[in-house]
Amino acid sequence: MEKYYISYNKIHNIIKSLSEQITESGFDFDYMVAIGTGGFIPARMMKTFINKPILTVGIAYYDLNDNIMDKPNIIQWIDDADKKLEGKKILLVDEVDDSRATIGYCLEKLLNHKPKEIAVVVVHNKEKEKRGLIPDEIKKYFAGETLGDQWVCYPWDADDAYEHDKKC
Ligand code: G4P
Ligand code: MG
Repeated sequence: MEKYYISYNKIHNIIKSLSEQITESGFDFDYMVAIGTGGFIPARMMKTFINKPILTVGIAYYDLNDNIMDKPNIIQWIDDADKKLEGKKILLVDEVDDSRATIGYCLEKLLNHKPKEIAVVVVHNKEKEKRGLIPDEIKKYFAGETLGDQWVCYPWDADDAYEHDKKC
Protein backbone atom coordinates (compact mmCIF):
# COMPACT_ATOMS: atom_id res chain seq x y z
CA MET A 1 0.00 0.00 0.00
CA GLU A 2 1.17 3.47 -0.82
CA LYS A 3 2.60 5.27 2.22
CA TYR A 4 1.95 8.86 3.16
CA TYR A 5 4.36 10.38 5.71
CA ILE A 6 3.06 13.34 7.65
CA SER A 7 4.97 15.58 10.06
CA TYR A 8 3.92 16.92 13.46
CA ASN A 9 4.00 20.42 12.04
CA LYS A 10 1.63 19.58 9.24
CA ILE A 11 -0.75 17.86 11.67
CA HIS A 12 -0.54 20.91 13.93
CA ASN A 13 -1.64 23.16 11.05
CA ILE A 14 -4.42 20.78 10.02
CA ILE A 15 -5.70 20.76 13.60
CA LYS A 16 -5.54 24.53 13.84
CA SER A 17 -7.63 24.79 10.69
CA LEU A 18 -10.09 22.12 11.94
CA SER A 19 -10.43 24.02 15.23
CA GLU A 20 -11.36 27.16 13.29
CA GLN A 21 -13.91 25.22 11.22
CA ILE A 22 -15.46 23.72 14.35
CA THR A 23 -15.68 27.12 16.05
CA GLU A 24 -17.11 28.75 12.91
CA SER A 25 -19.73 25.99 12.65
CA GLY A 26 -21.03 27.13 16.05
CA PHE A 27 -20.34 23.76 17.68
CA ASP A 28 -19.44 24.73 21.24
CA PHE A 29 -18.75 21.42 22.99
CA ASP A 30 -18.33 20.40 26.62
CA TYR A 31 -15.81 17.58 26.19
CA MET A 32 -13.54 16.05 23.66
CA VAL A 33 -13.62 12.27 23.69
CA ALA A 34 -10.35 10.93 22.28
CA ILE A 35 -10.24 7.37 20.93
CA GLY A 36 -6.98 5.78 22.03
CA THR A 37 -4.37 5.63 21.16
CA GLY A 38 -4.38 7.36 17.77
CA GLY A 39 -6.76 10.11 18.88
CA PHE A 40 -4.80 11.12 21.99
CA ILE A 41 -2.17 13.36 20.41
CA PRO A 42 -4.59 15.07 17.96
CA ALA A 43 -6.97 15.79 20.88
CA ARG A 44 -4.14 17.30 22.91
CA MET A 45 -3.08 19.41 19.93
CA MET A 46 -6.66 20.64 19.53
CA LYS A 47 -6.78 21.64 23.21
CA THR A 48 -4.23 24.35 22.36
CA PHE A 49 -6.85 25.96 20.10
CA ILE A 50 -10.07 25.00 21.89
CA ASN A 51 -9.41 24.57 25.58
CA LYS A 52 -11.88 21.88 26.66
CA PRO A 53 -11.42 18.81 28.87
CA ILE A 54 -10.39 15.57 27.18
CA LEU A 55 -12.02 12.27 28.12
CA THR A 56 -10.39 9.13 26.76
CA VAL A 57 -11.74 5.78 25.64
CA GLY A 58 -9.97 2.64 24.50
CA ILE A 59 -11.44 0.41 21.82
CA ALA A 60 -9.52 -2.47 20.31
CA TYR A 61 -10.41 -4.00 16.99
CA TYR A 62 -7.13 -5.84 16.53
CA ASP A 63 -5.64 -8.26 19.03
CA LEU A 64 -2.06 -8.23 20.27
CA ASN A 65 -0.97 -10.17 17.17
CA ASP A 66 -2.58 -7.56 14.90
CA ASN A 67 -5.38 -9.96 13.90
CA ILE A 68 -8.81 -8.43 13.44
CA MET A 69 -11.39 -9.52 16.06
CA ASP A 70 -15.06 -10.23 15.23
CA LYS A 71 -16.11 -6.89 16.69
CA PRO A 72 -14.53 -3.89 18.38
CA ASN A 73 -14.01 -4.34 22.14
CA ILE A 74 -14.12 -1.68 24.80
CA ILE A 75 -10.95 -1.75 26.86
CA GLN A 76 -11.45 1.56 28.61
CA TRP A 77 -14.57 3.69 29.07
CA ILE A 78 -15.59 6.94 30.80
CA ASP A 79 -16.21 6.88 34.58
CA ASP A 80 -19.76 7.92 35.49
CA ALA A 81 -20.48 8.28 31.78
CA ASP A 82 -24.25 8.83 32.23
CA LYS A 83 -23.66 11.64 34.69
CA LYS A 84 -20.90 13.23 32.61
CA LEU A 85 -22.43 12.97 29.15
CA GLU A 86 -26.19 13.33 29.45
CA GLY A 87 -27.30 16.56 27.78
CA LYS A 88 -23.71 17.45 26.87
CA LYS A 89 -22.06 18.29 23.56
CA ILE A 90 -19.18 16.02 22.66
CA LEU A 91 -16.47 16.22 20.05
CA LEU A 92 -15.20 12.74 19.18
CA VAL A 93 -11.55 12.90 18.09
CA ASP A 94 -9.56 10.30 16.20
CA GLU A 95 -6.55 10.38 13.91
CA VAL A 96 -8.03 8.44 11.01
CA ASP A 97 -11.42 7.35 9.71
CA ASP A 98 -10.40 4.14 7.98
CA SER A 99 -12.92 1.27 8.02
CA ARG A 100 -15.08 3.39 10.36
CA ALA A 101 -15.70 0.26 12.46
CA THR A 102 -14.13 1.68 15.63
CA ILE A 103 -15.56 5.18 15.22
CA GLY A 104 -19.03 3.80 14.41
CA TYR A 105 -18.98 1.51 17.43
CA CYS A 106 -17.78 4.29 19.71
CA LEU A 107 -20.52 6.67 18.47
CA GLU A 108 -23.16 4.03 19.16
CA LYS A 109 -21.85 3.58 22.71
CA LEU A 110 -21.64 7.33 23.35
CA LEU A 111 -25.21 7.88 22.11
CA ASN A 112 -26.42 5.45 24.80
CA HIS A 113 -25.45 8.08 27.39
CA LYS A 114 -27.94 10.59 25.87
CA PRO A 115 -25.63 13.45 24.94
CA LYS A 116 -27.23 16.56 23.44
CA GLU A 117 -25.05 16.37 20.34
CA ILE A 118 -21.93 14.63 19.08
CA ALA A 119 -19.65 15.89 16.30
CA VAL A 120 -16.75 13.93 14.84
CA VAL A 121 -13.32 15.22 13.92
CA VAL A 122 -10.55 13.21 12.27
CA VAL A 123 -7.19 14.30 10.91
CA HIS A 124 -7.63 11.97 7.91
CA ASN A 125 -10.58 10.37 6.21
CA LYS A 126 -9.97 7.60 3.70
CA GLU A 127 -12.42 7.53 0.82
CA LYS A 128 -13.10 3.81 0.64
CA GLU A 129 -15.82 1.32 1.35
CA LYS A 130 -16.62 1.64 5.07
CA ARG A 131 -17.54 -1.25 7.34
CA GLY A 132 -18.89 0.97 10.11
CA LEU A 133 -21.64 3.58 10.04
CA ILE A 134 -21.89 7.11 11.33
CA PRO A 135 -25.36 7.11 12.96
CA ASP A 136 -27.97 9.53 11.56
CA GLU A 137 -27.92 11.50 14.84
CA ILE A 138 -24.45 12.76 13.94
CA LYS A 139 -24.82 15.88 11.82
CA LYS A 140 -21.33 17.38 12.02
CA TYR A 141 -18.25 15.64 10.64
CA PHE A 142 -14.91 17.35 10.09
CA ALA A 143 -11.92 15.81 8.28
CA GLY A 144 -8.57 17.57 7.92
CA GLU A 145 -7.47 15.74 4.79
CA THR A 146 -9.26 13.27 2.53
CA LEU A 147 -7.16 10.45 1.14
CA GLY A 148 -7.54 7.32 -0.94
CA ASP A 149 -6.68 3.97 0.53
CA GLN A 150 -3.14 4.92 1.55
CA TRP A 151 -1.30 4.03 4.74
CA VAL A 152 -0.65 7.16 6.78
CA CYS A 153 2.66 7.11 8.67
CA TYR A 154 2.15 9.28 11.74
CA PRO A 155 5.15 10.89 13.44
CA TRP A 156 4.28 9.34 16.82
CA ASP A 157 4.78 5.87 15.31
CA ALA A 158 8.27 6.70 14.07
CA ASP A 159 11.33 5.20 15.64
CA ASP A 160 13.44 8.19 14.59
CA ALA A 161 11.51 11.44 14.38
CA TYR A 162 14.18 13.21 12.29
CA GLU A 163 14.30 10.39 9.72
CA HIS A 164 10.51 10.47 9.62
CA ASP A 165 10.52 14.21 8.86
CA LYS A 166 12.91 13.69 5.95
CA LYS A 167 10.36 11.37 4.34
CA CYS A 168 7.51 13.88 4.64
P1 G4P B 1 -11.78 3.65 12.30
O1 G4P B 1 -13.10 3.37 12.95
O2 G4P B 1 -11.09 4.83 12.95
O3 G4P B 1 -11.85 3.74 10.83
O4 G4P B 1 -10.81 2.53 12.70
P2 G4P B 1 -10.50 1.06 12.21
O5 G4P B 1 -11.18 0.15 13.15
O6 G4P B 1 -10.71 0.89 10.76
O7 G4P B 1 -8.94 1.11 12.47
C1 G4P B 1 -8.24 0.13 13.09
C2 G4P B 1 -6.87 0.61 13.54
O8 G4P B 1 -6.06 0.87 12.39
C3 G4P B 1 -6.89 1.90 14.35
O9 G4P B 1 -5.92 1.79 15.36
C4 G4P B 1 -6.41 2.95 13.36
O10 G4P B 1 -5.76 3.99 14.04
C5 G4P B 1 -5.46 2.14 12.52
N1 G4P B 1 -5.26 2.72 11.18
C6 G4P B 1 -6.11 2.68 10.15
N2 G4P B 1 -5.57 3.28 9.07
C7 G4P B 1 -4.35 3.73 9.44
C8 G4P B 1 -3.31 4.43 8.75
O11 G4P B 1 -3.40 4.79 7.59
N3 G4P B 1 -2.19 4.69 9.47
C9 G4P B 1 -2.04 4.30 10.77
N4 G4P B 1 -0.88 4.60 11.37
N5 G4P B 1 -3.01 3.66 11.46
C10 G4P B 1 -4.15 3.37 10.79
P3 G4P B 1 -6.20 1.00 16.69
O12 G4P B 1 -6.03 -0.45 16.45
O13 G4P B 1 -7.51 1.46 17.24
O14 G4P B 1 -5.07 1.41 17.61
P4 G4P B 1 -4.23 2.75 17.82
O15 G4P B 1 -3.18 2.68 16.78
O16 G4P B 1 -5.15 3.90 17.63
O17 G4P B 1 -3.72 2.59 19.17
MG1 MG C 1 -6.95 4.87 16.18
